[in-house]
Amino acid sequence: MIVGGAGYIGSHVNKVLHGKGYETLVVDNLSRGHRELVKWGEFVQGDIGDAAFLRRVFDDYHVDAVMHFAAFAYVGESVADPGKYYQNNVSNTLTLLNVMKEKGVGRFIFSSTCSTYGVPSQIPITEEHSQCPINPYGESKLMVERILRDFGVAYGLKSISLRYFNAAGADIDAEIGEWHEPETHLIPLVLDAAMGRREDISIFGTDYKTPDGTCIRDYVHVTDLADAHVLALEYLSAGGDSNAFNLGNGSGFSVREVIDVARKVSGRNIKAAECPRRAGDPPVLVGSAEKAQKCLKWTPVYGKLESIIETAWIWHKQFNRRYNY
Ligand SMILES: NC(=O)c1ccc[n+]([C@@H]2O[C@H](COP(=O)([O-])OP(=O)(O)OC[C@H]3O[C@@H](n4cnc5c(N)ncnc54)[C@H](O)[C@@H]3O)[C@@H](O)[C@H]2O)c1
Repeated sequence: MIVGGAGYIGSHVNKVLHGKGYETLVVDNLSRGHRELVKWGEFVQGDIGDAAFLRRVFDDYHVDAVMHFAAFAYVGESVADPGKYYQNNVSNTLTLLNVMKEKGVGRFIFSSTCSTYGVPSQIPITEEHSQCPINPYGESKLMVERILRDFGVAYGLKSISLRYFNAAGADIDAEIGEWHEPETHLIPLVLDAAMGRREDISIFGTDYKTPDGTCIRDYVHVTDLADAHVLALEYLSAGGDSNAFNLGNGSGFSVREVIDVARKVSGRNIKAAECPRRAGDPPVLVGSAEKAQKCLKWTPVYGKLESIIETAWIWHKQFNRRYNY
């Protein structure tokens, strides 16, 4: 069961699972996802906060494991409306976990985030780094990690928390890709500027202590992320214990590097507007994915910034045509 599988990352995981012969069921309320992105397996529309709905789904389908992507994921919105975030990301997840317990489903893969670490005290960030989130979004994800730990001890739930850095890129066949409304992620915004859908791209801060003065972030290709989910499932199925893994690239790219590569890939002139720093942006956020590489045998293949931006660009151009944006 792929909960939130009509969204960006869940839809890519659905494709990879399907390609490996798994039967999938997507459950999504389409609050932020798109029916068009569910191209494989079965689909049931509904909200995970609705226990009666979930009970029906678990009765109607044989579910071996749950992958949970459903959440609200805008940091700014979480600061302005924390109740909404704790309700959906924590309370609704708890409803899902309780129904899973009732129905005897014992394997769970959870979309966590590097936002659970807060401001890094060391780079690259490893899984042992302290978890001190600085916004309700990160808090909500950390709370679920704690719930999973306690459900493991008390009820034997086996879970893997995957702490993503910045998911980016699109399916290499451009069948699916990133489709957020509103979009806040750097790469699709840069590509919007390349398409002429926005005037320019803002660079927030050009005086950081980084080689080119702009912030550095860790981008991981969404298909590599998807592969890691299948490996995490197989790890649990083979008797592996509950665990948490960073999923990142291990090396970061600066805002200017992203814009430069997007200019090369698209062949378009992308106007950049230099703006003051934004409060709360750490200069460098890069994660170590060594643990996932060692324990899950995860080997990302699309780690080059060019591969990430090329796949995103192809999707972006088709997407604009196909969905008439
Ligand atoms: N995109 C990133 O870079 C990134 C980084 C770190 C963590 N994450 C986490 O990964 C997960 C997936 O991210 P995404 O970018 O694919 O997000 P997304 O918004 O594209 O997908 C989330 C999906 O969950 C669905 N959903 C939300 N609440 C629901 C509910 N109550 N019941 C049923 N469905 C519900 C939405 O309709 C949407 O289809 C999220 O949990 C997010 O916090 C994402």
